This record gives sequence, structure tokens and C-alpha cells, in this order.
Amino acid sequence: MRIPGLKAALCCLPSLLILPTVAAQSVDATTGLRKEEGWETVRATCTECHSAQLITQNSGSRAVWQSRITWMQDTQGLRQLDPEEEDVILTYLSAQYGPRRSARRASLAAHLLPTNPYPVAE
Ligand code: HEC
Repeated sequence: MRIPGLKAALCCLPSLLILPTVAAQSVDATTGLRKEEGWETVRATCTECHSAQLITQNSGSRAVWQSRITWMQDTQGLRQLDPEEEDVILTYLSAQYGPRRSARRASLAAHLLPTNPYPVAE
């Protein structure tokens, strides 16, 4: 039996099931920032000189984000931030773009590596 369109309908089913999960996390269409508490402060303070992609592609603990802010203040002309404003920003950044495990796979075990064709110093 052949039902026209059935194959196409079935092939799209998995993507329909995934959709609600993707939509659950709201992301600002312009900046790409996750719309969680504090995001508007980050947008206002942190997208003046560069794209928010510099933020969204980075990750780190509060201390790491703090050090990036200090680095920009010391070398890139970022103004001193009001302590409350800085707290909102650091809380947002460390919660939304917190430390990530490495995206790289673990190294292969020595016995799984190919033989080294080059001479090795003793
Ligand atoms: C006064 C301008 C300015 C403002 C405002 C600014 N930055 Fe930056 N930022 C820079 C410059 C310049 C760089 C270096 C860009 C490059 O390497 O192309 C940079 C780089 C970065 C990087 C990449 C650092 C790295 O290790 O590669 C991150 C992350 C970042 N900024 C986050 C932020 C955050 C968060 C804020 C808001 C608190 C912010 N920036 C506000 C100027 C600014």
C-alpha cells in the first residue's frame, strides 16, 4: 500500500518533537543573548564595542568573567562599572555562560595510537 506523503510526514516527525525543547530557552534574535535575568544590562553594557557573539561563544566561572572585564577595563577602554551593575552582569554571565567541560574528546590511550613513523630522541 502506498500513501502519498506518508514518508515525508514520517521523516519530519522527529524534528517536530525537538521543537518545543528549542523554543523553551528564549534567545534574543538580535544579539543571541539568552533572555534570562540581567540580559538587558549585559546587552546595554557589553555590546557597545563588539558583538555579543564574543560573549555567547565564551564560557567561564565568575572569576574568569571578572578577569575578562578587568582586562577590558585595563586595556580596551571599558568604563568602570557600578558595583551593583557589575554584580548583575557577573551573575548573568556565570549562570548562562558558566564553565563548560572541554568540547574535545579525551586523548587516545597509548596502545590505540598508530606507530610513530618519525625517529624519536632517546
Ligand atoms: C569599551 C569597549 C568594550 C566594551 C564596552 C566591552 N568590551 Fe569586551 N572587548 C573589547 C575589545 C576591544 C575586545 C577584544 C576584541 C577582539 O579581540 O577582537 C573585547 C573582548 C571581549 C571578550 C573576548 C575575550 C577573550 O578572552 O578573547 C569577551 C568575552 C568580552 N569582550 C566580553 C565583554 C563583556 C561581558 C562586556 C560587558 C561587561 C564587554 N565585553 C564590554 C572591548 C569592549
